[in-house]
Parts: sequence; structure tokens; C-alpha cells
Amino acid sequence: MFERLESVIPDPILGLMAAFRADPDPRKVDLGVGVYRDDRGETPVLEAVRRAESALLARQSTKTYVGPAGNPAFNEAIERLVLGEEHPTRLTARVRTVQAPGGCGALRLGAELIRAVSPDSVVYVSTPTWANHSPLLSGSGLKLAPYPYFDPATGGVQFAAMTAALARLPARAVVLLHASCHNPTGADLSPAQWRELLELLKRRQLLPFIDMAYQGLGEGLEADAYGMRLFSAELPEVLCAVSCSKNFGLYRERTGALQVINETPAAADAAFSHLVRIARGIWSMPPDHGAAIVHGIFADATLRTSWQAEVAAMRQRIQGLRHEVVKQLRQHCPQRDFGFIATQRGMFSFLGISAGQVRELRERHHVYMTDDSRMNIAGLRAQNLEYFARATAAVLSSPAR
Ligand code: LMR
Repeated sequence: MFERLESVIPDPILGLMAAFRADPDPRKVDLGVGVYRDDRGETPVLEAVRRAESALLARQSTKTYVGPAGNPAFNEAIERLVLGEEHPTRLTARVRTVQAPGGCGALRLGAELIRAVSPDSVVYVSTPTWANHSPLLSGSGLKLAPYPYFDPATGGVQFAAMTAALARLPARAVVLLHASCHNPTGADLSPAQWRELLELLKRRQLLPFIDMAYQGLGEGLEADAYGMRLFSAELPEVLCAVSCSKNFGLYRERTGALQVINETPAAADAAFSHLVRIARGIWSMPPDHGAAIVHGIFADATLRTSWQAEVAAMRQRIQGLRHEVVKQLRQHCPQRDFGFIATQRGMFSFLGISAGQVRELRERHHVYMTDDSRMNIAGLRAQNLEYFARATAAVLSSPAR
């Protein structure tokens, strides 16, 4: 059966990870995969995670199944983190949460729920969006279509074009939105834009599906949840895929959750029962370890405070790097304005060079970023900032590729 299979091209982000690892050049700079790095270029285990994990290992007495909905204490902690303590949907029992293997599992779970109830629904995604959104969502059988989002001329959101396109969608269309730290552009919606979008979604009866993978790494834990909290309070139905990979540094533990907001508690219960059945049919039970760590952090006020400080430190380092890299680029590439990098948020920005120039950066200078010139700002550090800016200058001044 499998002898006719031909190899497929690797996912662009994973392909880049492998190429970087294989490059022996000591000057190499990894701006590819979106993982946080500290100023030594490492992706450390957060201190709060380490302590919660030690306590977990000391007290854990069984490895028996947790159940297809995952750890209820983790699910509740995630509700409180995403929605806040006193959110109306929590007070009126209109939110349900199901643990999932990472934000990816949560995205797929949400897509499977939509397909189960409305197989012809189209999910509208921003242009551009994270490379893995398409396989994750369309793998459920749903169709995807684009809406305008990023404006390369300003480095911001093309909000008028975005809302004009969304205003033409049929009722019940699904709109995938990035809660904060838009991947791959770093261009986020402002609170005023979220509010305007809310009115549009209400008017057109569109379903928001919010991807929340970077809470805390943009403006802050509260500010990054602004759109999600607003939409959940004001709309009858919202889906939200939550990831703990970045803000807890739990990448390989595959820790995430899908939240569904529904019009009534009974409707929320029904959606929950479907989600549990879908999860059972795909991965049966989610992995427990990362979720147990997150719960351990939330259950201990000291660990929670320490985790909040670690998230703030990651965010501040990224914001500092954004300013530093603009400074370096201004010095080495004065002919080009890269100021937009300092106004964007989260780990990613487009450098705004061609795929040929990206290749040249990689082949001649060992600087790795995806072909669309998305760079992970957290991969920069004091030791490589100037090298990166000089390499960019060299590429910009070499004959067009
Ligand atoms: C990224 O965008 O690089 C990260 O979200 C990692 C991934 O799985 O693609």
C-alpha cells in the first residue's frame, strides 16, 4: 500500500529547525521556530515550572487516566487566566473548557466541533496566518478562505480592508482571530479595533474562533486577553484555542485547552459533551504532565506570582530587543526604515525582504528565518544583534535575487 508514497516537503518551520541544527557554523543565528530564548540563546525551564514539577513528582501517586476532558482543575485555572476571575460567562456558567494536546490540539478540536454541527462552514483566516493553521483546520474537512489583515506598507493591520471583507461574509461564517502577538506579523488589533470588530461580528452573526497562543508576551496577561474577554462577554458563542507552550515554556509537554462559550448553560453542556466525544475519538485522553504543572502553579500563590514575573521578564526582553534591533538596523541599513518592528508585539515580525534575500541570509550568513522573512525576535541577543544587522545590510546591498 505505501510503496507509491512520495516524500512531501517538510513544514516550513520544522524544515528550518532541522536545517539550523545541521549547520556547523558557529556564527549561526536562529530566528526560525517560535520558541522564546534568553540572552544566552537558551529556552530555559521556567523557575515556577521547575518548582511545580518537583512538587508534582513528589506527590503524584498514580499515572491512571485523567479522562478525555483532561484535568478539571487545570481547565478551571485556564478559564480564570483567559477570562479573569469574575467574567460574566463564568458567573453564568456559559463557558466550558476541555484540555487538549497543545494549542494545536485545541485548534483541531474546535474545527472538528464546527464540522460536526456545520460541515459546510468556511473558516476565514488572516492574510497571512500561521503556517500550521491551514493543515490543522482543513484537516477536519472544513474549507478555509482568506481575509485581508497585514499591511506591509505600515507594518500594521489593514483594518478597513479587513472589516470590509468580513462585512461581506455570510451569517455563521467562522473568523479565526489571533488574540495577541499575531503570528507571523506581530501586528495586533487595538482595543478600539476589537470593539469595532465586535459590532461587526454581532451584526453579521459571525462566529469568532480565537487563537490565544501568546497571552502575556504582547502587552501583558490582562491586555492580551482584551479581545477574548470582550467577545465572550458580548457574543452568544465564541471558541478559543489556548496554548501553554510559550507563556509557561511547556512546548514539548503539549499543554493547551479549548474553551467554548455558549448562549446558555445547557447549550454549553451539550457542546462540552460533543467535545469530549470528539477528543475521545482522536487522542482519547490528553497528556497530563504539563497540565498538572500549570495547575500546580495556579494552586500556589507564591508560584503564581513567580510565574507572572517570569512572563513579564520574557515580554520585556522581547520588547527591549525590538528597540535594539531597530537601532542596529538604522545604523547599518540607513536607507530602509525598520521602525515598524518596535511597534509590533510578540515574538514575530516580518523583516520585509524577498525569499531570495532570505535564502542569501541563510546560505551566506547563517541567519535562519522562514522564506516569508518572518523572524523570531527572541532569537536575537547582544552577541548577534550587530552581526544580524550587518548581514541584513549585506543582503540588501547585493544584486536583487
Ligand atoms: C511557530 O510559529 O514557530 C511556533 O508556533 C512553533 C510551531 O509549531 O510552528
